[in-house]
Amino acid sequence: MDPQFWHARWQTNQIGFHQGAPNALLAGHFAALGLTPPGRVFVPLCGKSHDMDWLRAQGFEVVGAELSPLAAAQFFAERGLTPKTTTDGALQTCSAAGVTMFVGDIFELTPATLGPVAAIYDRAALVALPPALRARYSAHLTALAGPVPQFIVTFTYDQALIEGPPFSISEAELHAHYGATHHIALAHSQAVPGGMKGTCPATESAWLLTPR
Ligand SMILES: C[S@@+](CC[C@H](N)C(=O)[O-])C[C@H]1O[C@@H](n2cnc3c(N)ncnc32)[C@H](O)[C@@H]1O
Repeated sequence: MDPQFWHARWQTNQIGFHQGAPNALLAGHFAALGLTPPGRVFVPLCGKSHDMDWLRAQGFEVVGAELSPLAAAQFFAERGLTPKTTTDGALQTCSAAGVTMFVGDIFELTPATLGPVAAIYDRAALVALPPALRARYSAHLTALAGPVPQFIVTFTYDQALIEGPPFSISEAELHAHYGATHHIALAHSQAVPGGMKGTCPATESAWLLTPR
């Protein structure tokens, strides 16, 4: 997916991935990571997700990374917030009410700009990326944050039947990305109601990654 794909999605409001409420797997299983607030939770490819509100409500500071300025603007506007905004190189930083969003290509984000984070929450981020980009993305996350705990939501379905995004991610692939740095445990799996895009059965899974 090149950046233009995602910019076009936001410009035409084709954001079927956006959920109207916090993700149920996050709400039901994030506590199993055993994190104690306050701490900074990094949300890569964050969109304008209500998951960030949920993490804030638990007492965590939220740090997101999002390509689309429209998504960032909508996130803050929908909450009646006017973010403090600065620009540093290729990234804009918008912050208000305990949420900081780096707006631009996540691959431009550096560890120094991100700062220390206690954990990473990845929903519709790894699965949003095509195979060739996923290894670069996972290595970049580890380079940015170190091997911190991660909560990852994936989909699995027959990739031969439909194209992503979202892409199907197997447990073996998760191990290929994070197995050297993390223990990987399944927290919960559930069938996707109506299947993937109404076409084939699919499973949504929540994974707990803890540093080795
Ligand atoms: C499938 S959406 C998921 C959004 C959010 N995590 C959610 O659950 O609603 C993927 C998001 O990643 C953003 N994105 C794609 N490529 C990106 C990149 N290279 N850097 C930062 N954000 C990116 C897109 O603009 C889009 O908002």
